[in-house]
Amino acid sequence: MSRVVARGPGRVNLIGEHTDYNDGLALPFAIDRGVTVTAEPLPGDRVEARALDLGEEDAFALEDAESASGWRAFVRGTVAELRAAGHDVRPCRITIEGDLPHGSGLSSSAALEAALCLALLEDDDVDRVELAKLCSRVENDHVGARTGLLDQLAVLCGEEGRALRIDFRDLAMDAVPLELGDWRLVTLGSGASHEHAGGGYNERRAECTAACEALGISSLRDATGAGGLPGPLDRRVRHVLSENARVDAMAEALAAGDLERAGALLDASHASLRDDYEASVPEVERTVAALKDAGAAGARMVGGGFGGSVLALFPPGATPPDGSVSVAPGPAARRL
Ligand code: GLA
Repeated sequence: MSRVVARGPGRVNLIGEHTDYNDGLALPFAIDRGVTVTAEPLPGDRVEARALDLGEEDAFALEDAESASGWRAFVRGTVAELRAAGHDVRPCRITIEGDLPHGSGLSSSAALEAALCLALLEDDDVDRVELAKLCSRVENDHVGARTGLLDQLAVLCGEEGRALRIDFRDLAMDAVPLELGDWRLVTLGSGASHEHAGGGYNERRAECTAACEALGISSLRDATGAGGLPGPLDRRVRHVLSENARVDAMAEALAAGDLERAGALLDASHASLRDDYEASVPEVERTVAALKDAGAAGARMVGGGFGGSVLALFPPGATPPDGSVSVAPGPAARRL
């Protein structure tokens, strides 16, 4: 093993939120900001890891990566899952740095998982869907967040200049050109950090499972309506069904170059996430309002919700608020 440097990008989900774990549809893309992981060989039988941005360190035996919390859970979990999948992880020193704020809703988690995998693998010519599933196991089984596959697929399979329409029923992926002309997409942090392993996200997921049980179906993709369900399950189902429809409406709007319509779909997605999925918080609402006041054609929360960032589409001539960052589809995770 020689020194390997790998980059995992963050992601923005254009539309299709809380649909991945319901066998639904989403339209994410990888962005330029991300996490860089460097792995250098070490003698012995240990892994040493440093998170430069946090000024923290970790060290553990390769053979016995006991569980931990925070960023250490990602490193130890990735090493454990790579080994469990039969990969020969060597003793090494890992250095992590990035320009993607943790808890921003732009998937610093998947960026870190993907960069770790590509830095630690003996050979990066691997099936990326399988790798996304491995990264998802890190998050589910080692970090404790019952997240779906959206972030990992976006980060590992994204394409420059295009969003990725993902059908989570069969993991079919179709690239959708994102041609915005003089329009632009920006994200703006709400100031409220979100944590998947804590609370709201896992609770919504459990509600979707409860709704399936009540409807006698195995996935909300098979639901035809929310009729008869008690609240809040009826509202959760209504969000998932309407959000799936908005993903295809967005792909059609983009193909037709109808960016006013794309903006309206962002607004409708946000309203559904706020009112039916109840995944918003006051800081996110204030951020959406600031973006709309500045002239956004549409704005919505991105990612798991309960904090994080807001995505907005601006027409030519409008000026996004201070702190907004332009985002565009960049390359997938890769070795540098
Ligand atoms: C987080 C999860 C994803 C997905 C989104 C909501 O980003 O990691 O799996 O569920 O929330 O769409």
